[in-house]
Amino acid sequence: MGKELSVPSIFQLGYYWNAKIFLTSVRLDLYTAISEGSKTAEEIASSVKADPSFLERMLDALVEIGLLKREGPNYLNTPPVAEFLVKTSPFYTGELMLLQDEEWGHWGKLEEIIRSGRPAVKGNIFMNRPEVGENVLKVLHRMAKRVAPTLAERIDLSSRKSFIDVGGGAGTFSVAFCKRYPHLQAVLFDLPQTLQVTRKTIETEKMTDQIRLVGGNFNQDALPGKFDVVFLSDILHYQTYDENAALFRKLYHAINPGGMIIVKDMFINDDINNPGWNAIFSMHMLVYSEKGQCYKGEEIRSWLEKAGFNHLVEIERNTVFTASK
Ligand SMILES: C[S@@+](CC[C@H](N)C(=O)[O-])C[C@H]1O[C@@H](n2cnc3c(N)ncnc32)[C@H](O)[C@@H]1O
Repeated sequence: MGKELSVPSIFQLGYYWNAKIFLTSVRLDLYTAISEGSKTAEEIASSVKADPSFLERMLDALVEIGLLKREGPNYLNTPPVAEFLVKTSPFYTGELMLLQDEEWGHWGKLEEIIRSGRPAVKGNIFMNRPEVGENVLKVLHRMAKRVAPTLAERIDLSSRKSFIDVGGGAGTFSVAFCKRYPHLQAVLFDLPQTLQVTRKTIETEKMTDQIRLVGGNFNQDALPGKFDVVFLSDILHYQTYDENAALFRKLYHAINPGGMIIVKDMFINDDINNPGWNAIFSMHMLVYSEKGQCYKGEEIRSWLEKAGFNHLVEIERNTVFTASK
């Protein structure tokens, strides 16, 4: 079962105002404006170039939502806002919110999308809008930096020599695995436009000796050789069912006998009565990509098995599978 809702909370769902107030506050970059200390509405309005009276109304709404605090005439950031929504913070994730705001117009077409069965956009941001893709990758990188070293610790690659990160993005996971297993030689395979972002991470992390970058399209091009380990993270939910099935077949052939695959994604619960939050994320994929959707764990298991993999292990529920060749 999904969540049980009270009648007031059902109606609350229709009041999307909080979401738009919040997204606009990120677009205005209000939180950076008060990162050095509390300020009055007038001072904030002057630094973000807004109308002081309307902005004050918005600041009070943000206080009510719980993002800001008000002390007399002054407004200040709450601790999570200071950590995640101030541009100078190492954990800034505002780009992800800006992406949600950009999608606003597409969400307005949801009825049309659902009725017609036709997506509102072509391709995906990595293919068609690399400047937006770069922003998303920056955020994914900051978020993944928190979990990648733990995953590298949990999956023992001490006997493996070669590793390919397929659609490796900013390179966060390649870096974490290569740091944990310094004898690994890795290839990160991604679209040429994305590799411009990857190169920055690999250079900053001083990993150019261990991680080689190769440009290409994994649906169309051959992978550059055979590897002991294939790593695939957050790729499946951008693709169609058939593309994923074909990708697993290709990956199987790119693995040395006895090698392994690590698949990380956002799976929908196998229990159809209780789909989980990724069922909602799948709506986001419907609105902002041409082909994307979240898949059930059992669909991913079936692609792996049909491609020839065995010894499937769910390392993290609805998130990470490993399998062997
Ligand atoms: C959501 S990001 C995931 C990045 C990384 N694996 C991670 O987990 O942080 C998807 C990545 O797949 C890449 N990508 C998408 N379609 C691709 C394709 N057909 N061929 C190669 N790379 C692709 C994108 O450029 C992007 O880096």
